[in-house]
Amino acid sequence: MRIVQVPLGSRSYQIKIGSGLLARLGRECAGLKLGRRCAIISDTNVAPLFAQAARHSLAKAGFTAIVIPVPAGETAKSLKTVHFCYDQLAAQRLERQSFIVALGGGVVGDLAGFVAATYLRGIAFVQAPTTLLAQVDSSVGGKVGINLGAGKNLVGAFYQPRLVMCDLETLRALPEREYRAGLAEVIKYGIICDAALFERLERELPRLLRRERRTLAAVVARCCEIKAEVVGQDETENGLRAILNFGHTVGHALEAISRYGRYRHGEAISIGQVAAARISARVLGLPDAQVERVRTLFERAGLPSETSLGRAQQRKLEAAMRLDKKVRAGKIRFVLARQIGKVVTGQKVPMSLVEQALKP
Ligand SMILES: NC(=O)c1ccc[n+]([C@@H]2O[C@H](COP(=O)([O-])OP(=O)(O)OC[C@H]3O[C@@H](n4cnc5c(N)ncnc54)[C@H](O)[C@@H]3O)[C@@H](O)[C@H]2O)c1
Ligand SMILES: [Zn+2]
Repeated sequence: MRIVQVPLGSRSYQIKIGSGLLARLGRECAGLKLGRRCAIISDTNVAPLFAQAARHSLAKAGFTAIVIPVPAGETAKSLKTVHFCYDQLAAQRLERQSFIVALGGGVVGDLAGFVAATYLRGIAFVQAPTTLLAQVDSSVGGKVGINLGAGKNLVGAFYQPRLVMCDLETLRALPEREYRAGLAEVIKYGIICDAALFERLERELPRLLRRERRTLAAVVARCCEIKAEVVGQDETENGLRAILNFGHTVGHALEAISRYGRYRHGEAISIGQVAAARISARVLGLPDAQVERVRTLFERAGLPSETSLGRAQQRKLEAAMRLDKKVRAGKIRFVLARQIGKVVTGQKVPMSLVEQALKP
C-alpha cells in the first residue's frame, strides 16, 4: 500500500493506494475516531459491485452502515438528490459523530462530499473513489458540490475528506471509455509539473492501458502526490491550484456546448490540452516537437485531440468560455506550457488562436 499525505494543518489527511483496500476500509476508518454509524453513498452501477464489500468491512470494525443509492451519472449532482440523501440520513438518525463514505466516481464523491459538508453543518466523510478520474483527481482536494440548471458545479464548498482509499481493484470493472477518460487527467499531471512522469507515460502507456497493477499503483500515487502538493499550497484556488485547469478552459466549454452529451470530461479536456499545447507554441514558444509529443500521447491513449466546429458552434464556444466561473473581469485566461512539465497561469489568448488550435 502506498500512502500520500495531504498537508493541510489540522485538516491533513492520507490517501491510501493499493489493491484490495476496500476490505481494509473499516479498519482504516476505526483509526479516525469517528462515531459508530455511517452511510455509504453510492450510485446504481457501483453499489451492486462494491457496497457489500464496503459494508462488510465496516461491520467487521464495529460500524453500522446504511447504503444510500443514488442514480448513476451526472444528473445525480442535483439538489433533488442532495435532499433525498438528507432525508435518508435524518430518517436513520445519523448524528454529528456519524460519517459518510463516498463510494463511486467523481459524481458520487462531489455529491456525497457536499451532503457531508452541509448535513448537521458538517459531518466527517471518507472518499472511496472507484474511477481512475476520481482516484487521481476529484477525491483529493476537497472541492465538493452539485450542478444547477444554469451550469456545472455552481453550488459547493471546500470540504476535505478525512481519508481517501483508492482501491485499484475497483478499476478492473470500469468501462474502457471511462478508464481512458481518466488517463486524460493523468497525462495532465505530467504536462503541468512532472516531465519525468510524462516520459514514463510515453514508455509505459501499453502497461497502463492493460491496467497492470504495479504501473497503475505507481502512476496513481504520483498523480495523488502532485495534487496533494498543489492543494497543500493553495487549498482554495487563489493561485497555484489554477495549474490544474490546464486544458480545462476549452474542455469545459466543449462540454457545455455539447450539453454534456457528446464528450466525457476526460475527452473534452484531451482536446482542450492539445489545443492549449498548440496555443502555447504560439504564445510561449513551446517547441513544436513537444506539442507533437503531447498530441501523440493523447491519441495513443485513445483520446480525441481535435474537433471541427462550424461558425455557430465557434461562437457558442467563445460564449461558454466567457461564462466559465474562472473568468475574471470578463477576461479569458489560459494555463499554458513553456515546456512539458512547466506551465504558467493567467495567459491572455486571442479567440482566433483558440479557433485555429482546435482544428485538425
Ligand atoms: N471535485 C473535484 O475536484 C473534481 C475534479 C474533477 C472532476 N470532478 C467531477 O467528477 C465527475 C466525473 O467523475 P467520473 O468521471 O468519475 O464520473 P462518474 O462518477 O459518473 O463515473 C463514471 C461512470 O462509471 C461508473 N462507475 C464508477 N466506478 C465504476 C467501477 N469501478 N466499475 C464500473 N463502473 C463504475 C459510474 O456509475 C458512472 O456510470 C464530474 O461531475 C466532475 O465535475 C470533480
Ligand atoms: Zn478535469
